[in-house]
Amino acid sequence: MTLRKIAQIGHPILRERAREVSREELASEPTQRFIDDLVETMRDANGAGLAAIQIYEPIRIVAIEVSGENPRYPYKPKIPLTILVNPVLEPIGDETFDNYEGCLSVPNLRGMVRRHARVKVRAWDRHGAEVEIDARGISAGTYQHEVDHLDGKIFVDRVTDPSTFSTWDNFDRHHRDRFVVYAKEIVAKYGG
Ligand code: NI
Repeated sequence: MTLRKIAQIGHPILRERAREVSREELASEPTQRFIDDLVETMRDANGAGLAAIQIYEPIRIVAIEVSGENPRYPYKPKIPLTILVNPVLEPIGDETFDNYEGCLSVPNLRGMVRRHARVKVRAWDRHGAEVEIDARGISAGTYQHEVDHLDGKIFVDRVTDPSTFSTWDNFDRHHRDRFVVYAKEIVAKYGG
């Protein structure tokens, strides 16, 4: 496995629409090795998710994992390692919540983003089997953030109130306690 470089905001690749992956391509050894690299790179950077396009492969594959000991997001409900290929996301209902997001492609910045509280995600797993996930609350935000990357969108595009932008230090100092209380309410209301 190889740790890959993570593209940083301003690199044009992050604004591309990633292309669909065929079943044949997915089953190939290079793609399977690539998925291992994606997971390794995400874990090394303590990310909750990483899209292929963030490591310079504009294909529709994302990895998501929240282990429960994530130092970047200690309040996030756990999500087991999930590989989504060609994911399609559909909001369920019209409830939304505010999610304080960060991104491995956006150094030292967090901001408040409005997200759907419930989404249905349809995709293939890394072996091409169909998966359907009913994601809720904070976890639903994580899925929306990663699938956004495949369409060339970064969370900063969705920050409606720029006064919520914060460095990670200042988030910890001035916003974290309040947000953790709110995040717990979201988890209690919608589940993980
Ligand atoms: Ni991101």
